[in-house]
Amino acid sequence: ELSGSELAKKRAAEKACELVKDGMAVGLGTGSTAAYAIRLLGRRVRDEGLDIVGVPTSYASEELAIEYGIPLVSLAERPELDIDIDGADQVDASLNLIKGGGAAHTREKVVACSSRLFVVVIDDKKMKDLLSRPVPIEVLPYARRLVERKVAELGGRCMMRMGTGKDGPIISDNGNIIMDCDFGPIESPALLSQKLSAIPGLVEHGIFTNADIVYIGYEDRVESLERK
Ligand code: A5P
Repeated sequence: ELSGSELAKKRAAEKACELVKDGMAVGLGTGSTAAYAIRLLGRRVRDEGLDIVGVPTSYASEELAIEYGIPLVSLAERPELDIDIDGADQVDASLNLIKGGGAAHTREKVVACSSRLFVVVIDDKKMKDLLSRPVPIEVLPYARRLVERKVAELGGRCMMRMGTGKDGPIISDNGNIIMDCDFGPIESPALLSQKLSAIPGLVEHGIFTNADIVYIGYEDRVESLERK
């Protein structure tokens, strides 16, 4: 039996998977909601012979996709994907997202921007009027002090994300550190996105402004937001 929010996540993932057809190259997102989509697509590969290839956005989703039998390719082999299905940590009504709660946002953004259609799957608790969660950033360890200072100049406070089961910082799949930057409510995600992208040594930040569709799962239904 799934709890309410797990059911909501699963419903959103199911809706997104309806868009996946034979012959497609599919971006496989990271996190518990995207995992529902990966498992579902894997079952369709096995039971219906669905003919797709997947591009995982993290070590974790690669492992899951392998377990579920989805054939994988690299971005070098399939640089243009048909669809990417991924979760998010917060979403506003203009389809801006905060991602990176799982420290995977760098590859997630590369895959999302390589896809013709970027589909986001969330449960309803993640919808907000204004994005307000701390923005995850992936940082070259060498550049940490510079990045902290530049983020402070933009009004943000950086907290190093620390490991559990490990002393010291979390290290991303790309070998970098992760910091969570609190800006309070974000009035203009697009502007903050540009400014963060201009900081040397900041590899990638978790503000995404390119979602095409957001499926919002509730316990009993799914609603959608689409780019105008
Ligand atoms: C990974 O870094 C994030 O961007 C995830 O997509 C995000 O944390 C969503 O995870 P859940 O679906 O588990 O909330």
